[in-house]
Amino acid sequence: MAGGEGEVQYRSNVLRGPANALGLAMVGGPLERLLAERKRRVFADLPKTVLEIGPGIGANFRYMAAGTKVLAVEPNPAMHARLEAAARKHGVQLELHTAMAESLDMPNDSVPMVISSLVLCTVQNPSGAVAEILRVLQAGGRYAFVEHVAAAPCSRLRRLQHAVRRPWAYFFEGCSCERELASVVGSAGFTAVELVEYEAGPRWLPVHTQIAGVAVK
Ligand SMILES: C[S@@+](CC[C@H](N)C(=O)[O-])C[C@H]1O[C@@H](n2cnc3c(N)ncnc32)[C@H](O)[C@@H]1O
Repeated sequence: MAGGEGEVQYRSNVLRGPANALGLAMVGGPLERLLAERKRRVFADLPKTVLEIGPGIGANFRYMAAGTKVLAVEPNPAMHARLEAAARKHGVQLELHTAMAESLDMPNDSVPMVISSLVLCTVQNPSGAVAEILRVLQAGGRYAFVEHVAAAPCSRLRRLQHAVRRPWAYFFEGCSCERELASVVGSAGFTAVELVEYEAGPRWLPVHTQIAGVAVK
């Protein structure tokens, strides 16, 4: 669905784009320790070709076997140098795409596996992005995800997620902590979706409530 009227455009910011890349480099270690167990489960048995949406600086390359071909859809140019360095470090074959998740530049039914972590919170249209993932997946292909989501309605954390929404989105390039992503994936049209809801990190952290799972086309 590339090139249509009303197509989503990436709005790169000269300061926040690089700042977010640097931020990921700085928090990468602790963040990975927090998510590693979930990621090891859903990113197990990755095939030789993987499409990763919003790979950032390549945090997920460590879950791939050396030689894996990664179609990396990363529209923020400030991420690219670190992403390429991570690909070299982990021995993955990087094919960089600057498209948006909402308008993937790949044919229908063309990839066996899609992964994402902490990305559906930031894309401008999560339902559109998941529809695109479903479009490019081969029949029987899998979408594995680890994402942060909205806390329970009326909970203290949900109120906090709402209170910080504007500065959070400003500093983290559109990120929202209020998205109900389980229902976005669940209603997209996959033949099966298995996911777990869990909590990670300090309870006051706006990204404390998360989901991890696998959806099959
Ligand atoms: C919070 S970072 C997560 C990076 C990485 N997945 C990780 O777990 O460390 C969100 C990433 O999504 C990317 N992104 C934002 N909007 C996007 C879009 N519409 N399509 C694809 N990627 C997008 C950002 O550039 C950024 O690299």
